[in-house]
Amino acid sequence: APIRLRDYRAPAFTIDTVLLDFKLDPVATHLTATLSIRPNSAEAVLGRLELVGDETVLKSVSLDGALLAPGRYHATPSLLVIEDVPDTVFTLTIETIIDPSANTKLMGLYRTSGNYCTQCEAEGFRRITYFLDRPDVLAVYTTRIEARKSEAPILLANGNPGESGDIPGTDRHFAVWHDPFPKPSYLFAMVAGDLGVITDSFTTMSGREVELRIYCEHGKEGRCTYAMDALKRSMRWDETAFGREYDLDIFIIVAVSDFNMGAMENKGLNVFNDKYVLADPDTATDADYANVEGVIAHEYFHNWTGNRITCRDWFQLCLKEGLTVFRDQEFSSDMRSRPVKRIADVRTLQARQFPEDGGPLAHPVRPEIYHEISNFYTPTVYEKGAEVVRMLKTILGPDGFRAGMDLYFDRHDGDAATIEDFLAAFADATGADLEQFALWYAQAGTPQIVAKGQYDANARVYKLTLAQSVPSTPGQLVKKPMHTPIRFGLIGPNGADIAFDEVSGARVEGDVLHLTEASQTVVFGGVGARPVPSLLRGFSAPVRLAIDISAEDLLFQARTDSDPFNRWQAVQTLAMRNLVTGSGDVAAGRSPTVEPALVAALEGILSDETLEPAFRAQTLQMPSEADVAREIGHDVDPDAIAAARKRLRLAVCEGLGNTLFVRYGLLSGGGQFTPDARSAGRRALRNTLLDLMVAGGSRAAITAALDHFETADNMTDRLGALSTLAHAALPERQRALDAFHDRYRDDPLVLDKWLTLEASVPADETLDRIKLLLHHPSFAIGNPNRVRALVGSFAGANQTQFNRPDGAGYDFLADFVLDLDRRNPQTAARLLVSFRSWRALEAGRRARAENALKRIAARDGLSPDTLDIVTRTLA
Ligand code: ARG
Ligand code: ZN
Repeated sequence: APIRLRDYRAPAFTIDTVLLDFKLDPVATHLTATLSIRPNSAEAVLGRLELVGDETVLKSVSLDGALLAPGRYHATPSLLVIEDVPDTVFTLTIETIIDPSANTKLMGLYRTSGNYCTQCEAEGFRRITYFLDRPDVLAVYTTRIEARKSEAPILLANGNPGESGDIPGTDRHFAVWHDPFPKPSYLFAMVAGDLGVITDSFTTMSGREVELRIYCEHGKEGRCTYAMDALKRSMRWDETAFGREYDLDIFIIVAVSDFNMGAMENKGLNVFNDKYVLADPDTATDADYANVEGVIAHEYFHNWTGNRITCRDWFQLCLKEGLTVFRDQEFSSDMRSRPVKRIADVRTLQARQFPEDGGPLAHPVRPEIYHEISNFYTPTVYEKGAEVVRMLKTILGPDGFRAGMDLYFDRHDGDAATIEDFLAAFADATGADLEQFALWYAQAGTPQIVAKGQYDANARVYKLTLAQSVPSTPGQLVKKPMHTPIRFGLIGPNGADIAFDEVSGARVEGDVLHLTEASQTVVFGGVGARPVPSLLRGFSAPVRLAIDISAEDLLFQARTDSDPFNRWQAVQTLAMRNLVTGSGDVAAGRSPTVEPALVAALEGILSDETLEPAFRAQTLQMPSEADVAREIGHDVDPDAIAAARKRLRLAVCEGLGNTLFVRYGLLSGGGQFTPDARSAGRRALRNTLLDLMVAGGSRAAITAALDHFETADNMTDRLGALSTLAHAALPERQRALDAFHDRYRDDPLVLDKWLTLEASVPADETLDRIKLLLHHPSFAIGNPNRVRALVGSFAGANQTQFNRPDGAGYDFLADFVLDLDRRNPQTAARLLVSFRSWRALEAGRRARAENALKRIAARDGLSPDTLDIVTRTLA
């Protein structure tokens, strides 16, 4: 049965303290949980206590120290019911037995590389013991861990370390950890094993010394130093940007190799997918460094937005995730280049969230119904959730936003809060009316804004008509207009923004126009020349903007806009128009042509030495095949798109001519590798130029790529060249891929890059190659990183081969998902999301995708995760 937001009830009981006593064993871990429970005044259904489990094995249960006879309780793997409990505080002691080695779902207590580790968000704690496993039950935890010394010399849990020592006369030892901050069960963590460590310390703004540790597999300590540096910068940044100080004596990060998601913010003991911790020049790309920095920051920032203030229920997930993504984006913008970071984030949003919002899996930033909460850790909750917080800041201004955040922290520290609480803090701190704005949390679908401008030279008036509409989405047919902040400027003939002396038709504050009606005509007076409108600067709202603007005006905007984001956007728009027209041409058997304005715009950006190299690289990259498919939106033919894009890149390469080669040459020889954003930007530009050169197909370009690959002294350059070679149809491709594999045969994280490239090759033989690689010693179906690298990148990024006209790509994914579902439902369901845009395909592919989906849906015994995705995808 679905869970609905409107059915929320406070818990009948609450738990004040939890004592966990683990006796670790690879196949039979014993846990004694001692819970201090109290009826929750008004809500208690007196006498009957229900605790949830999930494949949980009960050994015994005692109430106030007395063992309960079997008749006093009822236990199944998913529920423990105890009748006639006292109507005052009482102690329940529950003994469970856990087999961590058999846990392939990677939820609850499991093993990774011989170590013990836990993942409890969202509903994993119930796989450890029966509990009120919901985020509005906040308890103080004490954890005692006992294990064989040889097996697990390191014993970790949340909070501050307490007593520890050997157990006399045995080969075992123990450690006790105490976390004084009340927390929900999803933030519990325990890690034990034989691990390497690096240590450091941080002095907080009030002068408290915090011990910092990062644990990893032995031998990888040297790859943890960048993460440690990022952690210290995150801690300082949260103090200066938000006034938030760390609160325990110690902060621990553990990197593990088997992990369903990116990382987890367990109080004082963050557990990470090792790909977001480990980085060194030989094995990590610049993108990896940026991801490590961003995820380290994200999890650390959760200490306040997520842990000190948590969520009342899982519908409020964006309360912590959207806000924390916003905070990590801001951190990275401050550490690196703000415009470059913004463009990267918007590209991710458009590539991942827009298709979700426009397909069968669309849901509001705050959903109102779910079957399986694991399927709601989505781009909508995370990335669109962050955009909503960003809009709030745009609407309130930096000071109003900070005042609202301060009040939120002040008012709700220690609470399990809601979106209403969050918005009330901003409304109360600033006096703003956020009622209409709140629709951003409730209405799914990407709003479309249609803009039309008209200049009257005689009246010196510029009229801008803005119409907004939110498309229908599953369960939401009719939508209301939203409060949408449009940052804008009117660019005058000399390239600077024109001043206007009056405005009517909309509230305009500084450079922000507040769109609140379905349609508004904004009249600017005293405008001395025809302006080029620059709308949605910095992508001030997560919308699609359609604007009637000529290629000449876009070229002008690409050259002059004072907003770097919109300079990038102007080039993207030009390129997109070319690609959409070109795809139509290819489909109709015509040869596509390339607009001279596009080549001129690219040339201008490439040669503008005042622009940072990273920005120039982003601009030269142009929309992906998937971007074009999304823009076309119906009857998509991925082969026509790929052909048009190939043709366009060839023409751009010819148009830019020797400039490409000259600029490429100038960027060579950067000296000693450093991972900072500046150096990374140079590498990004150089690799982008190389890729465009090879798109031209000349022998000289291919030679340059091979040379680039062989002489690279860092992973960014090596992988950049390899990716270029892999995507071009060259005889050299397989030899280069093999060489890369052989060089890194013992490094699983690097081999993921190789698997990804193998899966991304746009050639007919790729699917057979992938089927072969499933049996390669470097692949392991039990490891989510391997699965995502090989199968996830095939289904998610290889447009022509996943969408083969014969449907073999769909059949392969269906078979793989069915197989994986029995082992790891969360990861299986995640892969299945690759079908989310199936209805936008042309009829032949659409029918084949539907067949594959129906075959999955017909299978008996699907996990709730996969059943939920397949049902909604087909609905
Ligand atoms: N809270 C984590 C983060 O975003 C994500 C953990 C989600 N885990 C899961 N199994 N659904 O930082
Ligand atoms: Zn998070």
